[in-house]
Amino acid sequence: MKVISTEPSQILGARVAAGLEAEVVDVRFSRFPDGEHYLQTGTVDEEMVIVGSVTTSDAFVQLLLLIDACEGSENTLVVPYMGYARQDKRFNPGEPLSARVVAAALSRGVSRVVTVNIHEEGVLSHFRVPAKNVSLASDIGRHLTGMDLNLPIILAPDEGAAHFAGQVAAACHWEWDYLKKTRLSGEEVRMEPKHLGVSGCDVVIVDDIISTGGTIATAASMLRQQGARRVYAACVHGVFTGGAFMHLIGGGVRDVFCTDTVERACSRVSGGKTIADTIIAC
Ligand code: R5P
Repeated sequence: MKVISTEPSQILGARVAAGLEAEVVDVRFSRFPDGEHYLQTGTVDEEMVIVGSVTTSDAFVQLLLLIDACEGSENTLVVPYMGYARQDKRFNPGEPLSARVVAAALSRGVSRVVTVNIHEEGVLSHFRVPAKNVSLASDIGRHLTGMDLNLPIILAPDEGAAHFAGQVAAACHWEWDYLKKTRLSGEEVRMEPKHLGVSGCDVVIVDDIISTGGTIATAASMLRQQGARRVYAACVHGVFTGGAFMHLIGGGVRDVFCTDTVERACSRVSGGKTIADTIIAC
């Protein structure tokens, strides 16, 4: 077995390889003069693990090309961050079911798929091969235990993240709670007031994705009004669109970190070992 990755997932790809005690395959990535992607792999194995997050449309094309370049091998596809997964329904007439489009395209040429904290597990049914989702909640929880926090509480910003927050809290043995969120637009959310008893506490808001940061910013503001001592934010997928990281820090969030499903300078938790263990167990 060997491991290969797209450009945006090269660090996580190497960590997955370390967890599997497998060799990595070198890839030369470039573009044609007109901007089209080109790649050429080194010698692949009969069994390949292909690691590629769909962080952008370019990353998606690169991943499709990489899967095709591994044709003839038994391919396990790891999609650490699956962009387009949030468009998992037709919310309005005339919209595409984008999650299905991406899942179907990625299914061609692979035998099985592993995703990480996919936005909605129902999306797995759109892959045309067996697909399994793995959670990095425990990895985040273990990381939190190494931080110097006072009266720590884990908070989910919405009911959708409540299960995830419970898993994080189980790994660090802290209390947890959740808020109720209504999304008003792509950037704006409203949260129902809830008394959380956070006065003097350090609160860690946890979510699957930080995209615009609107969700975390709204929750953090409510927590500060209720006397929280310090507010931190942690997520699996640090998308941080439109300057979200700076927006959160500027808005008083003490620190923000994510995992390496999207490779960032603040990727302080790696999914490499958990993903490797999942592949071994499959
Ligand atoms: C939504 O259901 C997700 O779990 C996240 O809360 C959401 O995607 C975060 O987006 P943003 O950072 O743009 O508020």
